[in-house]
Amino acid sequence: MTFVNIEDFRRAARRRLPRSVFEYIDGGAEGEVTLRENARAFEDISFHPRSAVAIPPPELGTTVLGAPISMPIILAPVGSSRMFWPRGEAVAAGVAGEAGTIYCLSTLSGTRLEEVKAATRGPAWFQLYLCGGRDIAAQGIQRAKAAGYSALILTIDTAVAGMRERDLRNGSREMIARKLVPMLPHLPQILSRPGWLRGFLGDGGMMKFPNVMLPDGPMLYNDVGTMLAQSTVTWDDLKWIRQIWDRPIVIKGVQIADDARRAVDEGADAVVVSNHGGRQLDSVWPTIRVLPDVVKAVGDRTEVLLDGGIRRGSDAVKAICLGAKAVLIGRAYAYGLAAAGAAGVRQSLDILHADLYRTLKLLGCASVRELNASYVSRDRW
Ligand SMILES: Cc1cc2nc3c(=O)[nH]c(=O)nc-3n(C[C@H](O)[C@H](O)[C@H](O)COP(=O)(O)O)c2cc1C
Repeated sequence: MTFVNIEDFRRAARRRLPRSVFEYIDGGAEGEVTLRENARAFEDISFHPRSAVAIPPPELGTTVLGAPISMPIILAPVGSSRMFWPRGEAVAAGVAGEAGTIYCLSTLSGTRLEEVKAATRGPAWFQLYLCGGRDIAAQGIQRAKAAGYSALILTIDTAVAGMRERDLRNGSREMIARKLVPMLPHLPQILSRPGWLRGFLGDGGMMKFPNVMLPDGPMLYNDVGTMLAQSTVTWDDLKWIRQIWDRPIVIKGVQIADDARRAVDEGADAVVVSNHGGRQLDSVWPTIRVLPDVVKAVGDRTEVLLDGGIRRGSDAVKAICLGAKAVLIGRAYAYGLAAAGAAGVRQSLDILHADLYRTLKLLGCASVRELNASYVSRDRW
């Protein structure tokens, strides 16, 4: 199988995973309007290249929060990656480090945060949910500090879990609850993927969340919804987090300029324009459309990052032209991980890297740091 673009990895992931796991990655909330729009809205932006200019090989490296990275693409927090591939979080982090970029580890991951940090030679950020309350979260923060995570990334768009209709249809609840009779109708989709099943069972079977240590042990899978609903993040939380974490804090899930201003006023070191990849509130604007407002509001005071819908290097270039310092990718590496483990993540990043290089060459721009709004126009908004 030849993998030419991210969509090829998506198809390969679909073939290897049980339907419920594939659609957990692939799906979005409710009517999936935002999921689709996040990616489609990049089509509303056109390039204006400078032709007949001889430029040196384009420089793709940049810095985020002072850390040099080899390209302006960071691996976003993707929960439960251990379900996609054995030790999935550590595998993805290792490849991110080899590629010279940052890996963000979700609180809701199946691999211990210490093991994930040890697996990468690059910087890692710890994404924080307050599952279990402040005391439990504080333990996670202290562990992240001791393990060497260089930033906390606080997700603010998850007051409750989004309504992922595909997950309900696929029996995710029944399977997580592990009650045999309700599970029976959904077993064929699992048994029809023996390759995945072998890896899953060999890796210990149904994962728990070892980075949320409750008094009676790691948080269980079926507790996620309740725990999220009981632990809504508010601006007040930023203050106590600041008291126990002296490294940078990134606020993820900014969708309006006012929240970007608030985040910076409250001491955020960077913001991520994000709608959780269309998995939370449906029918919000695609992130690339929100970006110019946020850059206008806080771009001179903080670093603005963006995620949502990045499937090609040219999407990242468009976001940078509109003021993002770098972008995060979620599904664009999760499909690769699910399809082929480390090799899949590596090849996905290689494809995006080659896209970036080629796009800059064709734009006649020598460096991602020189990209600006003159290289693009917004055609339909
Ligand atoms: C399967 C999956 C799980 C995710 N889990 C988390 C998570 O645990 N914490 C979080 O802040 N964001 C999570 N996200 C959102 C991503 O960090 C990111 O915002 C989103 O994937 C970007 O959109 P994209 O997938 O189109 O690149 C998840 C996304 C996916 C696809």
